Amino acid sequence: MSVTTLHDPAVRGFASDNYSGVHPEVLAAIEAANGGHQIAYGEDVYTARLQDVLAQHFGAGVEAFPVFNGTGANVTALQSMLPRWGAVIAASSAHINVDEGGAPERVGGMKLLTVPAEDGKLTPELVDREAWGWGDEHRAQPLVVSITQSTELGTLYTPDEVRALADHAHGHGMRLHLDGARISNAAASLDVPLAAFTRDAGVDVLSFGGTKNGALGAEAIVVLEPAASAGLTYLRKLNMQLASKMRFVSAQLVALLEGDLWLRNARHSNAMAQRLRGGVEAGLADGSVRGVAFTQPTQANGVFATLPGVVADRLRESFRFYDWSGSDAARREVRWMCSFDTTEHDVDAFVAAIARETSAS
Ligand SMILES: Cc1ncc(COP(=O)(O)O)c(C=O)c1O
Repeated sequence: MSVTTLHDPAVRGFASDNYSGVHPEVLAAIEAANGGHQIAYGEDVYTARLQDVLAQHFGAGVEAFPVFNGTGANVTALQSMLPRWGAVIAASSAHINVDEGGAPERVGGMKLLTVPAEDGKLTPELVDREAWGWGDEHRAQPLVVSITQSTELGTLYTPDEVRALADHAHGHGMRLHLDGARISNAAASLDVPLAAFTRDAGVDVLSFGGTKNGALGAEAIVVLEPAASAGLTYLRKLNMQLASKMRFVSAQLVALLEGDLWLRNARHSNAMAQRLRGGVEAGLADGSVRGVAFTQPTQANGVFATLPGVVADRLRESFRFYDWSGSDAARREVRWMCSFDTTEHDVDAFVAAIARETSAS
């Protein structure tokens, strides 16, 4: 072996579900797809299989465009849904607004019309704050609503809530995009098929996330309503998201979606978040934990809380995690994320550290 392991694989934190590695079954799928020659740029048998697998999940007629990352999926998907003068309505906490370096505006050339949403979720009423001005040449035209499931704040839309947004958007001639970087966590938590809150609920185009759920860098734009999107074949290349050796991206998504790996991984990371929340709540109840307050319901694999800044800083000496970037810095809100490989032991050790540090403060 020419590369030695440079890190300690036993060290895990709660900073991001992207801190985890690759699930062994996904690595095995990459290995299985290796060897020999396959047609480049997506005309390989693994990408063909991915289309079939996605059709099993989302229904016949859907089309997938594998890409490298979530920002690329979002920007390219949204661009395909908009004319040059189009705008996207999104929650101000949306990844496209907070964490994509301005790529939707600068690379995609679209305007974002953002609305504050306490729990990260849009409603038809919130959409209406920006859904106006069609036909006014002075206003970027609101033509797409983008929601995230599970949200950046670890909350969930029910299928009925997505349906209400889709109906509302469509009623105004707008389309609905869903950022599904954590779509598997949402389906696992809601205990419904992936289609229940996407295609069946009226979502037009989806950014399907694989990376946070055990892949190495595999996402896909999934067009659920062909009339809602145009030019993806060209836009994906233009946006530098066209993989030459696409078989390895597709094989990862097939590995997740062909069986139940997507669900096993998502159920596990959700369960670890519940364990973390439950452990801290139990500590608050028996007095072993002090000064921690939860800021959001824990519905997927993220836990959001406030705690004294000195305590957070001391805790970080043993477990990495971030202040939540979407929040007012003075609030010192933190985000604790669990991954498919977070163990019960990791969670229990973290809860014990929270108890130790909060009672020492
Ligand atoms: C909600 C959401 N969307 C999209 C992404 C994808 O981002 P990236 O471009 O880092 O893969 C992330 C990752 O943090 C995310 O949390």
